[in-house]
Amino acid sequence: MKIPPVKGTRDFYPSDMVVRNWIIDGWKRVSLRNGFEEYDGPIFEYLKMFQMKSGDEIVEQLFSLQDRGGRELALRPEITPTLARMVNQRISSLPKPIKWFSVPRLFRAERPQKGRLREFFQWNVDIIGEDDVLADAETIFCALDYLQEAGLTPDDIVVKISSRKMLAALLRTIGIAEDKLEDLYAVLDKRSKLPSDTFEQMLAENVTDENKGKRILELMGVGSVEQIGSVVELTKEAKESVDELSRLFELLGVMGVGDYCIFDIGIVRGLAYYTGIVYEIYDKASELRAIGGGGRYDNLLKLFGGPSIPATGFGIGDCILAILLEEKGLLQKQRSTRQLDYFVAFADKQFFQKTIEMTAKLRLAGLSANFSYKSAKLSKQLKEASDQNAKKCIIIGEEFKDNELVIKDMATGQQELIKVDKFFADKPTPSGTGG
Ligand code: HAM
Repeated sequence: MKIPPVKGTRDFYPSDMVVRNWIIDGWKRVSLRNGFEEYDGPIFEYLKMFQMKSGDEIVEQLFSLQDRGGRELALRPEITPTLARMVNQRISSLPKPIKWFSVPRLFRAERPQKGRLREFFQWNVDIIGEDDVLADAETIFCALDYLQEAGLTPDDIVVKISSRKMLAALLRTIGIAEDKLEDLYAVLDKRSKLPSDTFEQMLAENVTDENKGKRILELMGVGSVEQIGSVVELTKEAKESVDELSRLFELLGVMGVGDYCIFDIGIVRGLAYYTGIVYEIYDKASELRAIGGGGRYDNLLKLFGGPSIPATGFGIGDCILAILLEEKGLLQKQRSTRQLDYFVAFADKQFFQKTIEMTAKLRLAGLSANFSYKSAKLSKQLKEASDQNAKKCIIIGEEFKDNELVIKDMATGQQELIKVDKFFADKPTPSGTGG
């Protein structure tokens, strides 16, 4: 009986691992050069941790389980609650601001579709302990630093930015009660994902007063920050958030990534814990779902039993990103995942044992080396060496009886003879230059 992979999961064959590692290595490299340190947590946590403030959508998508002791657990659908828990545990000893990143494997029981799976990797970058909008700018910059390095230009992607604090102030002015805001955010977040009549019906169910519903629709239709005032009066609170947004755009300009960023009042975010600046990254053609998203969550640590401490950050998944990079021809492709310093070949079967011995010696000396299992002709072994991306090939033949090896440079085809003792005395280096 053949057992298929579980729906929504992926098998990573060696050639898929090349792509996965290339993406994740890039995330890590860029995080480090932006001054972030890596952390990780457990893959499963108490179920209640994800039920507290992540929002209904994520709760419905949880993979939950009960352990043998009857504890209710869940596979992590995101790492932000874990981050809040971990920081709270050591809050007094951690120097602020805390700049941490992580690349967790996450699980969400979504309906599998293009770019949406049940198991995926997500790059997380967060700054905790800084309430200035400069921290939001720095995390957005970090995301764009990576995306730009991967080859994506402002013609390919866009960061759509808004503010929940501003939206809350405007909705209050329209007459929405404080305790209704969270549910309304969840509805507004659906606007770009649903046909307009379905969205309007959802909104009408949430906001029963027709006039208020109309004003919200009007507000969601504004195309610029300047236009907001003509639709809803700007209170002092709303004005402060508008000023904060302006400063964010100014800082992104100073950092040289302003061309990627636009204001979009429709960005609300699906997760319930966001409190201020919010953003999502999309392909410019808007053909795919979000590449990533994030924002400020100033109340989450307090909610998890810690002090009141501001936080901001984002998550970028590997699935949509890989689709976009592939579409743009920017995905790293490699014939083989192997990179060898040496391939050891034998010119005659009688040297097979020596080949094994030599390969083992090279490996023990810290070099990558391989040999052929088949007692094939030398030309076939050389082909294998080239398929495995060997930099050099050691050929053990008649010369070996005089204690000599033939070293062939696979790039130039040049061969040289060298004494075995000298070869090892010279300490061949992993770059393949030894010998
Ligand atoms: P999120 O918007 O739920 O945010 O996810 C961020 C990104 O993760 C999405 O834009 C998408 O690229 C990827 N993603 C989410 N679900 C799936 C899925 N089922 N399959 C493939 N990719 C997916 C968060 O998770 C926040 N915790 C991010 C954050 C960090 N906010 C502050 N700090």
